[in-house]
Amino acid sequence: MAEPVITIGRHIIEQERRYPEATGAFSDILLDIAIAAKIISREINRAGLVDIVGSAGKLNVHGEDVRKLDEFADEVIFNALDHSGNLCVMASEEVEDPIPIPEKFPCGNYALLHDPLDGSSNIEANVSLGTIFSIHRKISKGERGGTEDLLQPGHRQVAAGYVVYGSSTMLVYTTGAGVHGFTLEPSIGEFLLSHPSMKIPDPGKKIYSVNEAYYKRWSLGQQKAVDELKDDGFSLRYIGSLVADFHRTLLYGGVFMYPADSTNPRGKLRLLYEAAPLAMVIGEAGGASSDGHGSILEIEPQELHQRTPLYLGNRHLIERAEAAIKADG
Ligand code: AHG
Ligand code: MN
Ligand code: MN
Repeated sequence: MAEPVITIGRHIIEQERRYPEATGAFSDILLDIAIAAKIISREINRAGLVDIVGSAGKLNVHGEDVRKLDEFADEVIFNALDHSGNLCVMASEEVEDPIPIPEKFPCGNYALLHDPLDGSSNIEANVSLGTIFSIHRKISKGERGGTEDLLQPGHRQVAAGYVVYGSSTMLVYTTGAGVHGFTLEPSIGEFLLSHPSMKIPDPGKKIYSVNEAYYKRWSLGQQKAVDELKDDGFSLRYIGSLVADFHRTLLYGGVFMYPADSTNPRGKLRLLYEAAPLAMVIGEAGGASSDGHGSILEIEPQELHQRTPLYLGNRHLIERAEAAIKADG
C-alpha cells in the first residue's frame, strides 16, 4: 500500500492541532523557513552555472571569508520572514548585531536565529551544505524584540532544525514532539514527510567525526577520548560541513566532536545558531549533546556569536568523552 503523501504544511497543521494554545504563528514561521529552503536549494543546485559561487570579497564578524551564497542565503531568509508579523527579532551568523524587524512591519512573539549557510567553504567542491535554525519565544517587554530575546539557553527553544542540501534536500525539525524529516520533491516543489519520528540508532554504527588535524592542540583528555574510540575499532568520517556530519550521525549513530583546542579555547562552532538547535534535535531523537562538561542546552549565553566546544551523538559516547576529559583535563 502506497505511503500517504504528507506535505510539511499538512504535518505542521496536524502537529498544531495537538497544541490548542498554538496560535498558528509558529506554524507560519516553519512554513516560511521551508519556502526559504526551497529557494536556497534551487540556487545551490545551480551554483556552478551562475556567478554565485566564490567569495563575496569581504569578511564576516568572525573574520571568515563570506561567500556569495552565504549572503544570498542570508537575504532569502530575511526576506521570507521579516514581514510575516510572527517574529520580533532575528539573528544571523552573517550579521554582527541583532536584526530588527523593519518598522513598517508588525512584530510577533518569536525570535529566529540562524546559520543561513553552513559548510560554505565546501561550495565549490559540491559537498553537502546546510541551513540551521533556532526559534525562541519573545520574553522582552517592549513591542520590538532585541538581544534579550536572542540570548536564551537552548532548553528554552520552542523549535529547532536544519536543512541539508545534499543528494536530496531535506528539512529536519523538532518542536519538542519528536524529530521529523521531509524530503524536497523538486518536481512539485513540496517537502514530503519521508522520515517520521527520527531516532538516533542506539547502539549505532561505530563512527566518530572530528578534524584530527588539530590532535596536537587538544587537551590530554580529548586526545584520550579519541584514542579510546580508535582502540574500539571506530571508523572516522569527517565531511567538514557541520550539518552533513550531524545528519549522518543522526541517521547512523556515533559521535561528532568539534573540541576546544589551544588555538580556539572555546572551539569554533557557535552556540546560538549551530550548537543549541542541533542539541535540541539530537536530544529529541534520543541522543545527547555536550560542551565537554555538560549539556549544550543548559549553557546561559553571554554574547550573540559566542563559540562552544561541541559533542553530539549517542548518549553513551558523549558520556565517555566527558569522562575522559574530566579524568585528564
Ligand atoms: P560555516 O560555513 O557556517 O562557517 O560553518 C563551517 C563550520 C562547520 O560547518 C564545520 O563543522 C566546521 O566549520 C569545519 O571546520 P574545520 O574546517 O576547522 O574542521
Ligand atoms: Mn556553520
Ligand atoms: Mn554559515
